[in-house]
Amino acid sequence: MKHFTQFENKSLADQLITEALDYKSDPRQHISKGLGKKVGCIFLNPSLRTRASTQIAALNLGMEPIVMNMDKEGWALEMKEGAIMNKGTVEHIKDAAAVLGTYFDVLAIRAFPTLSNKQEDTDDFVFNQFIKYSGVPVISLESAIRHPLQSLADMITIQENIIAGKKPKVVLTWAPHIKAIPHAVANSFAEWAIGCGHDLTITHPVGYDLDPMFTNGAKIEYNQEKALSDADFVYVKNWSSFNDYGKIHTTDPSWMLTEKHFQNAPNAKVMHCLPVRRNVELSDEILDGNRSLVQKQAENRIYAAQAVLSKIIG
Ligand code: CP
Repeated sequence: MKHFTQFENKSLADQLITEALDYKSDPRQHISKGLGKKVGCIFLNPSLRTRASTQIAALNLGMEPIVMNMDKEGWALEMKEGAIMNKGTVEHIKDAAAVLGTYFDVLAIRAFPTLSNKQEDTDDFVFNQFIKYSGVPVISLESAIRHPLQSLADMITIQENIIAGKKPKVVLTWAPHIKAIPHAVANSFAEWAIGCGHDLTITHPVGYDLDPMFTNGAKIEYNQEKALSDADFVYVKNWSSFNDYGKIHTTDPSWMLTEKHFQNAPNAKVMHCLPVRRNVELSDEILDGNRSLVQKQAENRIYAAQAVLSKIIG
């Protein structure tokens, strides 16, 4: 595995889940493995979990993590080939990424979408510029279209909470939000859940279909009540429209999960990647109750990152 940017195959996913659970039982068992190696964590956007969990994962392997908040601390980057840089941008990505590639053994990049330029976002243009010009292994800390470390942590969390002998019904449900939100978490969750062989149903209002590249193999059900029936795991996430790119069509509060939504799924567990807008996306009673796996997902971000870093440094 050179880069970690997406779901590759079930065999690799199973290996990473097993290794992550092994690290969870003994986080510092390979404390010398990364000695002398540095991972540069480059954030073009804000983060709490991804930032802290990736640093802890690196430290657990004896690696040195260095975080750069490029949006606040770096030079304004120019991404376009052949740009005449006579406006706001100060440094070209081909220079910046090449320099970072000489400083670090591994780069980890967060680069959110524009939500206005659909083609650029779908091509994961900014993220791929780092891969193109850095010359070192790159880990996605969330790109325009995927959040694979989150999805790996989610698969680990499902694995830990599965009822033995039962193929779980997994549901990804759209939730209301006040802002236009990227598709990366929802895309990636679908990609990993389908790839790992889960029975996935996706439910959302009409007009919120995700890119079919990520959802082929899932059932699409526009009626949330039907979708939730007999669910074992319910993943809650907002995303903006993909077809009417980046637009909000509805904020219908009836899509926010409360206890009454679980009448036909009494044992369902609820997942969310966080941060969550309480009582907009998910009710307090769900987040603070026994169904919630959100803190376990966040904890598993450490071991997902550790399994990936360990694999990359070999
Ligand atoms: N879930 C997640 O990626 O959280 P942060 O945006 O805080 O890193």
